Amino acid sequence: MYCRELYGTLHADAQVARLNAGISGEALLRLSDATLQQYLDGHPKAPACKGRIGWGAADAAAFAPEFGQEIRPMWIAADRDACRFSIGAGWDEERLLAAAFDGAGRARLEATLRRLKVDRKRYLLLPVHPWQWEHMIVTQFAGEIAARRLIPLGDFGDGYLALQSLRTLANANRPAALHLKLALTILNTSAWRGVPGKYMAIGPAFSAWLAAKTASDPALAGAIVLGEPAGAFYPHPVYERIDGAPYQFREMLGVIWREAVESHLRNGQSAMMFGALLKTMPAGPPLAAVLVARSGLAVEIWLARLFDAVVVPLYHFLCRYGVGFIAHGQNLTLILENFTPCGVAIKDLQGDVDLIDADFPEAADMPDGVRETLLRRPAPHLLQHLQTGHFVSVLRFLSDALAGCGVIDEMAFYAVLAERLRRYQASHPDMADRFALFDLFTPKVPRICINRVRLAIGYSDASSRPSPGLGGDLDNPLHFAPIQRAARAAAPGRADLAGAHP
Ligand SMILES: Nc1ncnc2c1ncn2[C@@H]1O[C@H](COP(=O)(O)OP(=O)(O)OP(=O)(O)O)[C@@H](O)[C@H]1O
Ligand SMILES: [Mg+2]
Repeated sequence: MYCRELYGTLHADAQVARLNAGISGEALLRLSDATLQQYLDGHPKAPACKGRIGWGAADAAAFAPEFGQEIRPMWIAADRDACRFSIGAGWDEERLLAAAFDGAGRARLEATLRRLKVDRKRYLLLPVHPWQWEHMIVTQFAGEIAARRLIPLGDFGDGYLALQSLRTLANANRPAALHLKLALTILNTSAWRGVPGKYMAIGPAFSAWLAAKTASDPALAGAIVLGEPAGAFYPHPVYERIDGAPYQFREMLGVIWREAVESHLRNGQSAMMFGALLKTMPAGPPLAAVLVARSGLAVEIWLARLFDAVVVPLYHFLCRYGVGFIAHGQNLTLILENFTPCGVAIKDLQGDVDLIDADFPEAADMPDGVRETLLRRPAPHLLQHLQTGHFVSVLRFLSDALAGCGVIDEMAFYAVLAERLRRYQASHPDMADRFALFDLFTPKVPRICINRVRLAIGYSDASSRPSPGLGGDLDNPLHFAPIQRAARAAAPGRADLAGAHP
């Protein structure tokens, strides 16, 4: 099965390669975030990241980002008594619909509601991914449709573009409109990509709380948490009641409405998925190197801006509030001005963020239910969301790409990162105990293995998502790079003899 996933990935890679033929880094930089995502290569650490088990070639051609086709969601009316819906303060259902229907689409929707005698007081209108409708909902929820608790309306309204996660769609014509994250029961990059119901109740309030922190805490200036103002989940009438039922069958019908990064950008700013920095052109340097050159800044200064904009706020969220975001290259969006990093947008709040297993007073005002719903983890585990999620899974590849084209060697790269983190720590002396709790400078760091777990557990039904395995420890460049830099300064040309790097 793992080989099947690898072949699926190769099949997708062929189209990605075809799309990339002849395009320059400069041209990629002019694309919108959603369009640029069509050109990307996927998860750098997961060789089988485009396995997409459940999809055939025609499905990929219709729904995968590298084919760039517009996707029109299927809209359904769902009996409110049968589903869970939550919506944040300041939002209402009309605003959600306005984000997905222009005037003509809306008129068609209203005409359809009248024709099918759908009473909006009884029914909630939900988008469904067209593949999901065809392959899962029509068959698995047939009883609900027959009982008129689910009413199919049709595939009209705005067209959408698939982003790298496949299940999150961006409005094709209105980039600032809400994104739709839709359940998709295919196995891709280690998990079935449904939408679980357990976060629905807390989603809007938690995202509003995170937004309030970014707005009020100066150490988070420039960081944005993309709000998830609404979510809906329709449990399957039977699978939901079976203890230990495989999670893929308990997450088949759900939607999360999420802010688009474009709705937060100021004049002169642009945004790109963080993982795009690693994008290496068939001929030429990685996109990060193109940005450095266009910015006119020395690479060390450009990197300092990058780390201040991204790593510092992520680390601050962890240390100040005990909130750990899984900061991989698809969950972060880099905000740029003059080709230079100036901010970060963080996303994916339903399953990709955990809390510390202690009560930090700074997070005492967290809304009811969040602590009870999210995973609470000890500090060393939570730290891995940054150390493994970002340093080992993203920055390692970025430093390698920049070293490969001669822009900056790896140890110099990490010396800049260490210096920015130390500088941040020095400016918050009141948080010394937290920095000791979340220590980023130990000589060794744990090695978390995301690939071998699949070989260990196989592909049979499971009631929960797989957890990655643990390998031997890794040397921590944040520990060694500053020692080597100091040795170099003391004895230029003799750094390797200083024994600073293992
Ligand atoms: N550079 C990348 N780093 C991590 N994941 C990537 C990258 N590029 C593509 N991906 C894909 O994005 C998905 C990341 O999984 P994750 O659970 O964070 O997102 P999601 O919950 O499916 O969607 P979203 O982030 O849109 O809410 C996987 O399907 C993975 O293959
Ligand atoms: Mg994600």
